[in-house]
Amino acid sequence: MPKTLNRDQFATVLLRWHQQDGRAGLPWQNLRDPYAIWVSEIMLQQTQVSTVLERYPKLMQRFPTVQALAAAPLDEVLAEWSGLGYYSRARNLHACAKQIVQDYGGQFPRQLAQLEKLAGIGRSTAGAIAAFAFNLRTPILDANVKRILARLFGVAGAVQSKAVSEQLWQLAQTLLPHEAKFMPRYTQALMDFGATWCTARQPICLSQKNSQEKKCPFESSCIAKQHNQVLELPKKLVKKKSPAFNCVMLIIQAQEQILLQRRPTEGIWGGLWSLPESSWQKITLDSVVQSPKIKKNISTKKLLQMIFSSGHVAEKVLDQLIKLSTKPVAGLVLKHVFTHRVLWIQSWRIQLSKPIAIAGTDYAWFRLNELDALGLPQAIRLIFQDWNLIRDADKANE
Ligand code: ADE
Repeated sequence: MPKTLNRDQFATVLLRWHQQDGRAGLPWQNLRDPYAIWVSEIMLQQTQVSTVLERYPKLMQRFPTVQALAAAPLDEVLAEWSGLGYYSRARNLHACAKQIVQDYGGQFPRQLAQLEKLAGIGRSTAGAIAAFAFNLRTPILDANVKRILARLFGVAGAVQSKAVSEQLWQLAQTLLPHEAKFMPRYTQALMDFGATWCTARQPICLSQKNSQEKKCPFESSCIAKQHNQVLELPKKLVKKKSPAFNCVMLIIQAQEQILLQRRPTEGIWGGLWSLPESSWQKITLDSVVQSPKIKKNISTKKLLQMIFSSGHVAEKVLDQLIKLSTKPVAGLVLKHVFTHRVLWIQSWRIQLSKPIAIAGTDYAWFRLNELDALGLPQAIRLIFQDWNLIRDADKANE
């Protein structure tokens, strides 16, 4: 084989490999029904083949058609999915079935652009369905295919980056077999080759099995192999670990009212109402306990000083707060992940016998039944839910 592959050679070599060494006899292979193909693709996305072998036939028996799936209550679909994890897949499966019944009369659309718009179907899954069910010359680019192409063509950039991903999509398009009739077998061959031979950690070219009868058919033209870079490709973006902080937030409740503080316009949760909070402490060692280390029997005075020490509240008001407060009670520690930092929040609650006026526009008392409408940051909502101060809107809607 020459040093660089052209597209005809790639498909031909891959199809030949599949005939000889591809997987056979799996229940999702050689399907033509887009419904059956789609269900298998979604289940295979994040589930081991051995589990799919057991669960896929059961699910297909329970929901044999897209109409049956669409008509089932979501709870039944979730129950059928139980133990498979990533439950958004089951929710999307149900939502997508409804879309197909309502918008397409129960027939899967044959256009890639329409498939991609359906719930839970991304570009690669749409490509797989179109190739398997309709013989369309549409590429797939899941993690396995990215790996194969990055190695074979020596694509050295991080595969998560938009530019490299686009480059790989182009490459995937260029390599498709000329004749559409080969698309199902070609697509299956790509998936199988990535899953069994060109694997992430033990590719066949580096294993003992790389003998004459199990020789990678692309070895002589694989750029990664030539440069001894097989395990280094594909390159992943190494995500820098976000710095972690902890802080205390305080629920000060007076009868049916809660004290909130409006955050500065600039910065995190800019302009939103939030709970009064202590300053954030940077957590320097992973091994260190990640919640603020506060004694469970901390005094009201100490806790209030922690929150209001920055001079936002007059000494007199602070004294009054201390005098009127019950002993503080600790809530759960919540981990909140921002794009570039992690915050561990310990919530505490104290009760006042009555609301007291706090000068300054950034503090205000709100009635409990007003909280829902405030557009609070998600972390603050979770704290209120944890304390049963507002209902769980998501759960209530389901
Ligand atoms: N992963 C996702 N879809 C697959 C398929 N059809 N065959 C093998 N592995 C897969």
